[in-house]
Amino acid sequence: MSRNQSQPIFGSKPINTNQRGQWGSKLGFILAAAGSAIGLGNIWRFPIEAANNGGAAFLLVYLVCFILIGLPVMLAELCIGRFSQKNPIGAFRQALPRSFWWLVGALSVLTGLVILSYYSVVAGWTLGYVVKSIAHTFQSGIPPDQIRSVFGEFTGDWLTQIGLHLVFMLLCVLVVVGGVRSGIERWSKILMPTLFLMLLMLMLRSITLPGSSEGLRFYLYPDFSKIDLRTIVAALGQTFFSMSLGMGAMITYGSYLSKRDNLVSSTVWIGSMDTAIAFLSGLIILPALAVIGHTPGVEEGGAGLIFQVLPKVFTEMPWQPIGGIVFAAAFFFLLLVAGVTSGVSLLEVVTSYLIDERGWSRKKSVWTVGGTGFLIGIPSALGCGAVGWFSALIEIDGAILNFMDLMHTIFGRLSLTIGALLTCLSIGWIWGIGKAKEEIMHGYPGFGTLGKIWSFLLRFLCPLAITVILIFLLVDPSAIR
Ligand code: TRP
Repeated sequence: MSRNQSQPIFGSKPINTNQRGQWGSKLGFILAAAGSAIGLGNIWRFPIEAANNGGAAFLLVYLVCFILIGLPVMLAELCIGRFSQKNPIGAFRQALPRSFWWLVGALSVLTGLVILSYYSVVAGWTLGYVVKSIAHTFQSGIPPDQIRSVFGEFTGDWLTQIGLHLVFMLLCVLVVVGGVRSGIERWSKILMPTLFLMLLMLMLRSITLPGSSEGLRFYLYPDFSKIDLRTIVAALGQTFFSMSLGMGAMITYGSYLSKRDNLVSSTVWIGSMDTAIAFLSGLIILPALAVIGHTPGVEEGGAGLIFQVLPKVFTEMPWQPIGGIVFAAAFFFLLLVAGVTSGVSLLEVVTSYLIDERGWSRKKSVWTVGGTGFLIGIPSALGCGAVGWFSALIEIDGAILNFMDLMHTIFGRLSLTIGALLTCLSIGWIWGIGKAKEEIMHGYPGFGTLGKIWSFLLRFLCPLAITVILIFLLVDPSAIR
């Protein structure tokens, strides 16, 4: 980590309103940004994607996407955020005045609101599972089918679904109302290290379960013949979602940084932590899937996969039943925590827009965004079994999508990909790579050779690769699932 790791940012450039705030230390910022990146996307989504897209083949393509596309785009977002010290709309307006580029920011704000709405529903499930674990719903010897039906009944109960969604949204609101430093940053510093430790322990248990080796092999030995367009589309989409890119979250978090901070080392830290946690989650879920008899890559896993798989691992913990109860409750609690630090960043993007551009107070902004996100999330909450119509909205390529799947496909996938493309183009070509490099050199004067590589990736490779993927998607929309 760089020299100014715990340097306070006091005395940096004055900020436009006292509602905005700034990070207290570099470590605090990195943990908060890692908190945004590390979330349900890593633990809930990544293993599902890997299971459905060839295991190790997916992992490999993901790593390539992460290094060649994820890292450069993240650096670009942090860069324009710190340059402008503004929300995504304000940032594009400031960098490219009198143009239509602010619309990229507008798309970001809308996307953030919609992702928040369904993210809150899934995060609410983790809260429900904390309660179920404490109530000892999953006793040793419980057959996998029964674990599945517990999940089905749970998501089919509309009151529970709405209630948990509401509680999660409230948690995020309460953190964000506290502001950048004493809300978001303070909580991330406590919660992120704990999460990491828990995951490590769980991974050790999962890979030593009898019968887990088939899952491990599937995850770690690449079969290159499995790499096809679908794998690449899935991996790229997952990269953006997992790293919180393509919708201004990193622009917003970067806007609370001072000129003294080294954006490059921050990017590498945040990105590596995110990828490490996703990798770890795969090491937990895929062996566990093999243990309960899923044939990897054959059975499709839906949104509920981890809720149907992990309870089995917990019943195999030592010192039953206490070991199982404590571990399960602690795990789902930490998943909830990872969800909160991510939900918070989604909420903060929209909030920062209302504070900067509309001049609202933080309090009014946060409650408005939280309330709207809650309302938009209701169909997602009801669409996993409680209300039939929302639960089977459309069919793509033989797969039935519910409301949440549809929102994730449009906003969590397509919109992020488009957002990332436009970010590359606007920063690399229109605003100008020279200005961007100059901004990065504050805090990292040695950005010479690395700067050349970054410039090539951001201006040529990233836009080209993302465009090719988007064109393929138009030709074969089924690949997006
Ligand atoms: N990255 C988070 C996760 O992996 C989700 C998230 C938070 C996100 N903020 C975002 C996704 C911004 C896209 C854009 O769970």
